[in-house]
Amino acid sequence: MKLAINVDHIATIREARQSNEPEPVLAALLAEQAGAEGVVCHIRSDRRHIKERDLRLFRETVKTKLNIEMAATEEMKRIALEINPDVVSLVPETPEELTTEGGLDVISNEKQLLPHIKKLRNAGIKISIFVDPNLKQIEACHKVGVDLIEINTGKYADLKSGKERQKALDEIRKAAEHGHSMGLEIHAGHGLDYKNVLPVAAIPEITEFSIGFSIVARSAIVGIEKAVKEMIALIEKY
Ligand code: PXP
Repeated sequence: MKLAINVDHIATIREARQSNEPEPVLAALLAEQAGAEGVVCHIRSDRRHIKERDLRLFRETVKTKLNIEMAATEEMKRIALEINPDVVSLVPETPEELTTEGGLDVISNEKQLLPHIKKLRNAGIKISIFVDPNLKQIEACHKVGVDLIEINTGKYADLKSGKERQKALDEIRKAAEHGHSMGLEIHAGHGLDYKNVLPVAAIPEITEFSIGFSIVARSAIVGIEKAVKEMIALIEKY
C-alpha cells in the first residue's frame, strides 16, 4: 500500500497571508524523504491554493510521482500538456465548494471526456478519474480509457460509526473489486485520516491512498516528516 501526499493545504496556509511561505514544494520533498511515494496537488480554476509556479517547481523536483488533480477543461488540458505530470486526476469542480464534493459523473460526460483523455494519454500522461463507488460509473471510466481510478472515500469518512458506515465501506470494496476485474489500477482517497484509514487499507485491490488534510493538519503540530511516517506506519501492514 502506497501513500501519496496531497500538499494543497500547505499552499492554503501560504495564501492565508498571500505570503511566500510555507513552500508546498519543500513539504513535498520532506514527505518524499519520510517515505511518501507520490505527491498530489489540485490546481483549481480560482487558484485558491496551488498555482502554476508550484506545478513547475514540483515537476522539477519531485522524484517519486507527480499527480495533478484538475477539472477536464481546455485551460487545464493546456496546463497538463505544459507541465507533463506523471498522472492527471480528473475531478469535478464547482467554484463555491470547500473541497471536491463527489466523484466525476463520467456517464453524463463520456463524449467530452473521450477526446480529452486521448489527448493527454498520447502525451504520455497516465489518467485517473476520481469516481464515487458506483459500479456503472466505474464501467464508464473503463470505457473512456483511463489507466486508473481513485475511489471517493468521502461518504465513508463522513460517517463516524454504525451500519451506514459499514455499508459505505462495502460499497468501496465492491467498487475496488469491480474496477480491478476490468484491469484498472485502484487508488482511493478523500477524508481519510489516522482513525478511519485502516478498514480501507485492508481492501487488497487498493494499492495507493491520496491523503491531504489530515496529514497537513497533523504536520502543523508534529512536523511533516513525523506526520507522514505515522500514516505510513498505519497503512504499511497491508
Ligand atoms: N482525492 C481527491 C480527488 C481530492 O480532491 C482530495 C482533496 O483535494 C483528496 C483526495 C484528499 O482529500 P483529503 O484532503 O480529505 O485527504
